[in-house]
Amino acid sequence: MSKEIVVSGIRSTGYLHLGNYFGAIQNYVHMQNEYNCYFFVADYHSLTTHPDPKALKPNVYRVVAENIASGLDPEKVALYAQSDLPEIPELYLMLNMLAYKGELEKVPTFKDKVRLQPDNVNAGLLTYPVLMAADILIHRAVKVPVGKDQEQHLEMARNFANRFNTRYGVEFFPEPEVYRSNQETVKIMSLDGNGKMSKSENANATIYLNDDDDTIRKKIMKAKTDQGPTEPNSEMPDYIRNLFLLMKLTAPTDVYETFLGNFNNCNIRYGDMKKQLAEDMINFVRPIREHATELQKDEAAIQRILRNGAEKARASSAETIAGARKLIGINYY
Ligand code: AMP
Ligand code: TRP
Repeated sequence: MSKEIVVSGIRSTGYLHLGNYFGAIQNYVHMQNEYNCYFFVADYHSLTTHPDPKALKPNVYRVVAENIASGLDPEKVALYAQSDLPEIPELYLMLNMLAYKGELEKVPTFKDKVRLQPDNVNAGLLTYPVLMAADILIHRAVKVPVGKDQEQHLEMARNFANRFNTRYGVEFFPEPEVYRSNQETVKIMSLDGNGKMSKSENANATIYLNDDDDTIRKKIMKAKTDQGPTEPNSEMPDYIRNLFLLMKLTAPTDVYETFLGNFNNCNIRYGDMKKQLAEDMINFVRPIREHATELQKDEAAIQRILRNGAEKARASSAETIAGARKLIGINYY
């Protein structure tokens, strides 16, 4: 039986952080043996915020290096840059004819961007979900490992796929689903308790895979906490739940359970908990950081990986675009 097709992308807009790792990359690594995987650096998507041209290359290389340092094997998956597949913008153009201004304006991530960058509400920002749908549908993927923040985009990709199928009368695109490793999709909150951990907001409350030991320690010690619960088995405020989640993801189980017991018995000392979490986090991040730094020294190796990845990915994108052109009627010779 042929393997199911998986697609996912990460924007090259800055340093990767724990949200990217636990929301996305960890799943990539789990999936690489059992699925036919296409993972890419979404460099076109990063253009919505007009990055400095000189910053693009190091950002793309870093995303590649950090993915490999996290355990992704470029021999097993197609790892490529979005801009290396010209079929993606072609499919994006086709899908744009099936996407409506009203629905795009309602997307929460679009509304967030309008709030964050009111002077740069460009059409690329509005059609961001269409480009993302093209990324996925170009390989006719069925599973997409992404964090919870991307679920709405996935739903739009399914809508565009269905509209295309209905318009042209064939089940050409399958409906892509969010892939969940153990039921739940993960969301890592910012350490200040304000929204999700993200590349562009509050660097002091975000732990990057590139942070050194001291920086990690400082950021965790500053994480938002409170006086602690006064009733046994209280509900956790979301910023405390986030610290417990990070501990669960990086510390030995018995350590996690001890602190959880302390919380439930109202004798938790958050200072101690954060000290412990900082050490476990350092042990977790250090090998990834060191490996990624090594990999980025060998630019030729990264270039080889990107070229090979693009070559693997192009076989499937060329086939999809040929089929889509035919269905649309672009079939003149
Ligand atoms: P981005 O950095 O926005 O390009 O996101 C790349 C991947 O990381 C996507 O699959 C996101 O869903 C995931 N991701 C980003 N931030 C978080 C977060 N704070 N928690 C969980 N997943 C996240
Ligand atoms: N929109 C995703 C994000 O911001 C990145 C992305 C672009 C993506 N294209 C994709 C993710 C295709 C999965 C599939 O995180």
